[in-house]
Amino acid sequence: MGQVSRLLLVIGGGIAAYKCLELIRRGRERGLAFRCVMTAAAGQFVTPLSVASLAGDKVYGELFSLTDEAEMGHIRLSREADLVVVAPATADLMAKMAGGLADDLASTLLLATDKPVLIAPAMNPMMWNHAATRRNVERLRADGIRFVGPNPGDMACGEVGAGRMAEPAEILAAIEGLLAGGDRPLRGRRALMTSGPTREAIDPVRYLTNHSSGKQGHAIAAALAAAGAEVTLVTGPVDLADPPGVRAVRVESALDMRRACEAALPVDVAVFAAAVADWRPDGVALQKIKKGHDAAPVLQLVENPDILREVANHPTARPRLVVGFAAETEHVEAHARAKLARKGCDWILANDVGPGTGTFGGDSNRLLLIRRDGQAEAWPQTSKAEAARRLVAEIARELAHG
Ligand code: CTP
Repeated sequence: MGQVSRLLLVIGGGIAAYKCLELIRRGRERGLAFRCVMTAAAGQFVTPLSVASLAGDKVYGELFSLTDEAEMGHIRLSREADLVVVAPATADLMAKMAGGLADDLASTLLLATDKPVLIAPAMNPMMWNHAATRRNVERLRADGIRFVGPNPGDMACGEVGAGRMAEPAEILAAIEGLLAGGDRPLRGRRALMTSGPTREAIDPVRYLTNHSSGKQGHAIAAALAAAGAEVTLVTGPVDLADPPGVRAVRVESALDMRRACEAALPVDVAVFAAAVADWRPDGVALQKIKKGHDAAPVLQLVENPDILREVANHPTARPRLVVGFAAETEHVEAHARAKLARKGCDWILANDVGPGTGTFGGDSNRLLLIRRDGQAEAWPQTSKAEAARRLVAEIARELAHG
């Protein structure tokens, strides 16, 4: 960061846009420099002239303005800031961001930027609570977008509920926190995360595996990265994109996963969410096993290494905090406690993966955190992203105090 922090403020088209004038004024008093972009709809609520006068700089609006492109390309505009702030972030703008649309200057900048993005949502409470907005919020959080507000209260539209844009003072506090690295409690920490299933080859075309989707592990990797950690995500085959800001190492088998984990050490924290196959066929047939023999082939299995146990008992590079998962279908807490002790981890997160729970492949999870000292905390059913943030907050607290 230079001496003056530069903000790129994207003003969306909502009634709360007027609060941006105050935000710019107060921000400049505190030494922040603003470059402002308005969506076409924003111009219905505040004039570019008021914004430009307060910001002390011209306001950008048209994606295809030739003069603007000649003076300052939209890519450069998005990169020159230290932080991008979207206020008000309307439901429409958030949907565009979540979907990766780029049909005007504001959405193009938001897609092209490599800087942290803070958004201050503002909309009618029904819109904020709509399933589509909920999905977009989750998506954006998973993409590492930071939020300030919205707050509950009276709305300009006469309704009451969550949806009021955060006040300029709150937005400024969030901006300053972000610029100071304040929301990145794991900055400078290294993390190892395992996720997804493993595939244990039988022959060149067949394998043994399980139902793990990798959603919870990937969400934790994303949350660790959003908290500033340097994350190595060792993942089995999953149908998910690599979370932003993590180093993803794609593996197939448990033996590959073990090798990749070993190579990622030392780390401060290791979280094992992968559903590692407990067994692998004893030897892989070099050619496809053919039918037509007298009897079906018999699979001889051998046990895979327990990666969590090996890392938790590592002779030279045991992470300060080792967190395991216990996927159980019955006696969840008792099995999880036994697993914690057997594997030598510090915490274990128990989850019920029994039929009907929807945990495998689903988007929500209900976890029980058990610590080595025996304390247990039952978390409510939340999205996997929310559970990930909660875990990362606990990890940050532990590493700060431990
Ligand atoms: N784990 C691992 N390596 C293995 C097996 C499991 O790292 N070979 C880790 C998982 O990532 C998880 C924890 O150990 O964090 C528990 O996994 P789980 O499948 O619940 O337990 P298992 O060890 O397979 O025990 P069991 O089959 O008795 O339930």
